[in-house]
Amino acid sequence: MAEPTFDAPPDPACGAALPQVDGPVPGPEGRALVDLLARHECPAITARRARRSEQTGVGQDPIVWERARGANVWDADDNRFVDLTGGFGVASVGHGHPAVVAAVSEQAARLAHGLGDAFPARRRIELAAALAAWTPDPLEQVIFGSSGSEAVEAALKTAVVATGRGGVVAFEGGYHGMSLGALSASHYREAFRRPFADRVGPLATWLPWGASAGSVAAALSEHRPAAVIVEPLQGRGGCRAPAPGWLAMLRGACDRADVLLIFDEIFTGFGRAGERVLSGTAAADGVVPDLLCLGKGLTSGYPLSACIGSVQVMSAWGASQGESLHTSTFLGHPVGCAAALAVIDLFEGGMLERARTLGEHMGSTLQTLAERRPDRFGGVRGRGAMRGLEVRDGASMTLCRALLQRGYLLLPAGLEGEVLSFTPPLVTTRAQWDGAVDALEACL
Ligand SMILES: Cc1ncc(COP(=O)(O)O)c(C=O)c1O
Repeated sequence: MAEPTFDAPPDPACGAALPQVDGPVPGPEGRALVDLLARHECPAITARRARRSEQTGVGQDPIVWERARGANVWDADDNRFVDLTGGFGVASVGHGHPAVVAAVSEQAARLAHGLGDAFPARRRIELAAALAAWTPDPLEQVIFGSSGSEAVEAALKTAVVATGRGGVVAFEGGYHGMSLGALSASHYREAFRRPFADRVGPLATWLPWGASAGSVAAALSEHRPAAVIVEPLQGRGGCRAPAPGWLAMLRGACDRADVLLIFDEIFTGFGRAGERVLSGTAAADGVVPDLLCLGKGLTSGYPLSACIGSVQVMSAWGASQGESLHTSTFLGHPVGCAAALAVIDLFEGGMLERARTLGEHMGSTLQTLAERRPDRFGGVRGRGAMRGLEVRDGASMTLCRALLQRGYLLLPAGLEGEVLSFTPPLVTTRAQWDGAVDALEACL
């Protein structure tokens, strides 16, 4: 079989262009739209000129996204960017992959909404079966949600019904979402929890990332939690990969303490780390969690998430008595499910191999850059197509802004914003990636 390559896009319709930026970014149309947003959106949400200026002394609005294809995003002023964020890791098979667009269009015309738990829709049934086949045994039964946070809520609730206990052990830097339950497990960041400190409780017990076997065992025996929740490759908290054997140690500790192990693979699932799921070192260590949360790249663009568990763990909920104990209006949204089925087909058709090749190239080119400029960069973190480049002197935000002007979309990550976080669409081409690394060096 030919070596997988990423010199060209997998489909001619995937955006494989280099950036094209005319004039200052954001342009006049973008600025006008952001002014309108400032009047009508809760001010806590989008970082706008006034707030950024106060914090950083540099006035800068975000660009307004207008359309996207593959790894390319166009803004309201028709500037073309290369998206190194992959839309927070959502655009796994690229923005607007033609196969996903076709599946979504067909489904939108046929049936947009099912009747949740009352009357299931065909695509939800098909996706539940496909996910059981996609994930390792014994993960076999699913609870669908619309957002990543909802998948985490479902996992936490499942852990409570399965163990009869509450409480969760989690890890420093972990990010699991913003809804109250997910927030209570998220260590990233204290500011997110502070206003709700009296409402989110009980908070998780947070252990250091990479905590020793002794401290994990001690925390489990002291706190008797329902679950340990971990991102097997930590994303927002700083693209941190665990040491070999660490996830296996967690598995063993949970088994001995009769505590469920939850993998939050909302960011890393679906090829991001070079595996279908079981990211970080989980696949190499042969570790399977009791509950697995997926979202983001599952659909490559549509709000659908999944919490998947074994038959044994899910049976703790008991059979439905007519009114479901856990459901939502958009449960297993047919359009989202159609997108996810198309994404799975693409992964089975070579996207995973492409992700691995891209990920290796990302790692080696960032390593070369870090070695060439040790004055500006520390180490390279992460795995596969989730990489973090440690930046010295708190310069990550300045570098992101400079790259934006050159047509590359990038975000910092880490509790101190200490890394540049690269999670591009898995269809990104070699020329797009190499152009980004050259642009980063030029920004220095
Ligand atoms: C690991 C992880 N878990 C959960 C979430 C929350 O997902 P959502 O924002 O879709 O609620 C995120 C979002 O970034 C995430 O990265």
